[in-house]
Amino acid sequence: MKTIHEPHLMQREADELRSAGKRIALVPTMGALHGGHAALIREARTRGDVVVVTLFVNPTQFGEGEDFGRYPRDIDRDVLRVSDAGGDILFAPETTSMYPPGYQTFVDVETLSRRLEGAARPGHFRGVSTVVTKLFNIARPHCAVFGQKDAQQVVVLRRMVRDLDLGIEIIVVPTVREQDGLAMSSRNAYLTPSQRGEAPVLYRSLRKGEDMIRAGERSAEAVVARVTAEITAHSSAVIDYVSVAEAESLDPLPTLSPGTPVLVSLAARFGATRLIDNIHIRL
Ligand code: PAJ
Repeated sequence: MKTIHEPHLMQREADELRSAGKRIALVPTMGALHGGHAALIREARTRGDVVVVTLFVNPTQFGEGEDFGRYPRDIDRDVLRVSDAGGDILFAPETTSMYPPGYQTFVDVETLSRRLEGAARPGHFRGVSTVVTKLFNIARPHCAVFGQKDAQQVVVLRRMVRDLDLGIEIIVVPTVREQDGLAMSSRNAYLTPSQRGEAPVLYRSLRKGEDMIRAGERSAEAVVARVTAEITAHSSAVIDYVSVAEAESLDPLPTLSPGTPVLVSLAARFGATRLIDNIHIRL
């Protein structure tokens, strides 16, 4: 496996691969790789001739007071993980080569970026959309693989690809979970043992919501109340939001109706650690 640090060298490599007729599959990550990322890389392996994994803790998607400074970083371990999962090229740029002095250009998917996670983390998706656009321009992929774990990120990026005619296929991989149901996340490493013990309540509560919907419940308010009650009864978590939304527009859905894809999503804090999870249901 090859590691590249400079954007212009990655771009040159990508151009050469394209000229040789190779299909490039991209997996953008912020490192601290776990089984969720490995699943994305394995999927990319089946989608392209060359798998490029990017590792960049993107400062522009972190808000003031968020965990940018303490985000887990371990490049040596990540290099092994990428090659084990089948990556061909690891692109790991420095912050200054992605955002040199004077940098001032941003991509903003306006409405979708302000919903849910965007309401809780202003500017987050502007940072994500900007860095992903840059990574697309640097690695010139034919397709890019993302996780359902960050459901809104997928919705925002699909919109961006359509709106800007980027012509890159977006592939989504289901959320990879620990045995007890907790969605794998780099941020799980921040949890204390007792918070780690409680955290599976997030997925359990989503499953309870799903069971209600499958049993015929059509009121989003009732689903939100049930999910919320389950979390507060069984953990010390502070809930940021529990939402029932139409899965593509992210519009709130007061009433669920057959045929509508539904996204039940939530964010909750265990101490300073903010976790998200979601479940996608088609009625
Ligand atoms: P990061 O949090 O490192 O996640 C990289 C990719 O892995 C994302 O597509 C995310 O949805 C996926 N992922 C994370 N946990 C997962 C899990 N348990 N199961 C399946 N997929 C999972 O998301 C980002 O980085 C950044 O916003 C990025 C797109 C790289 C832009 O900076």
